[in-house]
Amino acid sequence: MKIAVIFYSMYGHIYHLAKAIEEGASKVSGAEVSLLQVKETLPDEVLTKMGALEAKKAFAHVPYADVSKLPEFDAIIFGTPTRFGNMCAQMRTFCDQTGQLWAKGALVGKIGSVFTSTGSQHGGQETTIQSFHTTLLHHGMVIVGVPYTCPELTNMKEVTGGTPYGASTMAGVDGSRMPTANELAIGRFQGTHVATLAKKLAAK
Ligand SMILES: Cc1cc2nc3c(=O)[nH]c(=O)nc-3n(C[C@H](O)[C@H](O)[C@H](O)COP(=O)(O)O)c2cc1C
Repeated sequence: MKIAVIFYSMYGHIYHLAKAIEEGASKVSGAEVSLLQVKETLPDEVLTKMGALEAKKAFAHVPYADVSKLPEFDAIIFGTPTRFGNMCAQMRTFCDQTGQLWAKGALVGKIGSVFTSTGSQHGGQETTIQSFHTTLLHHGMVIVGVPYTCPELTNMKEVTGGTPYGASTMAGVDGSRMPTANELAIGRFQGTHVATLAKKLAAK
């Protein structure tokens, strides 16, 4: 069964979480996992002003997702940084190119799952993930989050991202905080959980 981890990242936090999710999904036997990114929509001039060009070099090698290929996957796990409590415009642009797929019902019954990153601790992780779910539900996708059987979800010993809706991390207002071991573990759990369910759904 085929699984895509499709992300947009400006400063690398979502990319790091995406790799953990890819790793978790790859642990499930029979899973063929593709790590893909969505295209940038901002000009380099703006990215330079936002201090993003250097950080983006770390994942410049990741291939771009092709909207027309989405029906080939049994499950798609989307990663987006929070923008005012919602998905980023780059991901919105990608989703808004899926109208033809929607018209054909091409994603109906496939698994959809979401993870995110915010700058601050209460900056809208759940709203970003849940509002993304709306798009996936319009496509008829089956929403999967992170169940509480993931022990790191209830870790109260440290400040941590991670929600039952999907994995998450906090970049810090200056972007200096990278995903922690706890957050990466939740990401791996999400990947494994999605792949396990996708395998069951794909079983004939
Ligand atoms: C236009 C804009 C809006 C943002 N809105 C929020 C927000 O609502 N809440 C928050 O905590 N962080 C917000 N951030 C911070 C980003 O979510 C943060 O930079 C991102 O999660 C880092 O992920 P990345 O390194 O993968 O790009 C915003 C950043 C930008 C540029």
